[in-house]
Amino acid sequence: NQNKDLNENVKDQQLDAFRVNNDGTKMTTNQGLKVSNDEDSLKAGVRGPTIMEDFHFREKMTHFDHERIPERVVHARGFAAHGEFELYESMKEYTRAKFLQEPGKKIPVFVRFSTVVGSLGSMDTARDVRGFATKFYTEEGNYDLVGNNIPVFFIQDAIKFPDLIHAVKPEPHNDMPQAASAHDTFWDFVANNREIAHMIMWVMSDRAIPRSFRMMEGFGVHTFRFVNDKGRSRFVKFHWKPVLGVHSLVWDEAQIIGGKDSDFQRRDLWESIEIGDYPEYELGVQMIEPEEEFRFDFDILDATKLWPEELVPVKRIGKMTLNRNVDNVFAETEQVAFHPGNVVPGIDFTNDPLLQGRLFSYIDTQLLRLGGPNFAEIPINRPVCPIHNNQRNGFSRQTINMGKVSYHKNSLAGNTPSTSTAKEGGFVHYEQKVEGRITRARSKSFDDHFSQARLFWNSMSPPEKQHIIDAFSFEVGKVKSKSVRQQVVDMFVHVDKAMAITIADNVGVNRPTGEQSKVTASSPALSQANTVKLPQT
Ligand code: HEM
Repeated sequence: NQNKDLNENVKDQQLDAFRVNNDGTKMTTNQGLKVSNDEDSLKAGVRGPTIMEDFHFREKMTHFDHERIPERVVHARGFAAHGEFELYESMKEYTRAKFLQEPGKKIPVFVRFSTVVGSLGSMDTARDVRGFATKFYTEEGNYDLVGNNIPVFFIQDAIKFPDLIHAVKPEPHNDMPQAASAHDTFWDFVANNREIAHMIMWVMSDRAIPRSFRMMEGFGVHTFRFVNDKGRSRFVKFHWKPVLGVHSLVWDEAQIIGGKDSDFQRRDLWESIEIGDYPEYELGVQMIEPEEEFRFDFDILDATKLWPEELVPVKRIGKMTLNRNVDNVFAETEQVAFHPGNVVPGIDFTNDPLLQGRLFSYIDTQLLRLGGPNFAEIPINRPVCPIHNNQRNGFSRQTINMGKVSYHKNSLAGNTPSTSTAKEGGFVHYEQKVEGRITRARSKSFDDHFSQARLFWNSMSPPEKQHIIDAFSFEVGKVKSKSVRQQVVDMFVHVDKAMAITIADNVGVNRPTGEQSKVTASSPALSQANTVKLPQT
């Protein structure tokens, strides 16, 4: 049984088969032919034209010409490291996922941190959301927790994602600004898509300028499901809590550091791992029983809402330690393919309409970015358990599938699916009951866009509030369209009137005349907003 010896080093051992050292080995062509001269092309006479016959020149140049692959459509700039995850306590009661059963069990992980908006060469300290994507190499296949450092998201339905990204990326006519939200199209999108209010409060806060990847939280954002071996499901949200605590830069530091060292955060991660000061994060889960689904005054399937930790405590179930830098950024950091749909038995999805759309988008983009359907064979993406199915061929196929059978069902080979029994471990989707009419509409339970935005504002200390006002004033102040600036302050009056008035004065528009929205909350969480503490900044 190949699964038997799985441990935290199993991925490293697998990668070893692909490593090629540059340790004085003689140069060859890709065909293994020893090269005698790598600096003069083959010419007709020493001053003559280069001749077509020069296969070495052609191979070398052609390969160079094809070195670039498309950068990620979002999260292009990232930095990654290897590590291990160790479980504190058995989660058997809640999930059948094998890596969450035995306390002390360790498995390998690969984590990529990123900014969202900037291109591959942008600066690390931009005001932006940070990606926090983890691949757990489990004995049941890869489980990807593709999260961010902010617990909520900009939009509620995946169909709006292309619009959000078109608005926040550099404007198409002049490709500016790079890696910044301080421009007309972004704030025009904000003012016309009010579900964004809560996320914008986080993005204008110090959370969007973390001090270090080692000092930020991670959140799965969506509501997922745990399913135990009896088939009982609970709603779950995932958290990463940095052992070093959460720390941010202040805006002036971010600007100055970014100007002097655009690699500030990747250097910090690299160096801390090189000197053995390993970054650590505890994995936390919030769980809600199925009977409690409608107990809250927000919809637990709405990705613009968090579950206040006072109402639904975070249980810390394990620790991740990042202890090894990559050997090659292209091979690993660039070619890694995360996908929220990579789950293992015991972890499942919900009807969150943002999550459902993500389940389509990641593989779709990777088919282009990584050149066809065989990217799961790239070393960093390979699971550490055996792979077997009837998929065949495609560009750059590496597996040599033996035998003549590549179809199901058959009588000539034994490649059948597994049953869902604990012994065989086949994945079955949670049998959720669904009802309703097909409609292109949104649930009314997704309509309250301001209560949690205000909850966030009210949970801030005075200096943190000042930073938020400064951030709005800087970012919105750069918007050329006065109408857009006015729309923004008119919208954020619904979060806090005094805040919106100060911003209006700072960005040169009329003070908003509207009133703060009535908080629709009935639960203790929102009606006592001032006393509810959000995760500490
Ligand atoms: C990367 C789409 C929402 C976290 C990406 C990529 C796409 C994408 C196309 C590039 C993937 C690649 O090239 O490998 C979407 C869509 C979303 C969405 C359509 C909403 C409908 C989110 C949310 C989160 C998130 C809510 C956080 C919970 C990430 C991260 C990466 C990423 C961390 C970078 C992964 C890496 O480091 O390779 N997303 N995304 N995304 N997304 Fe999303």
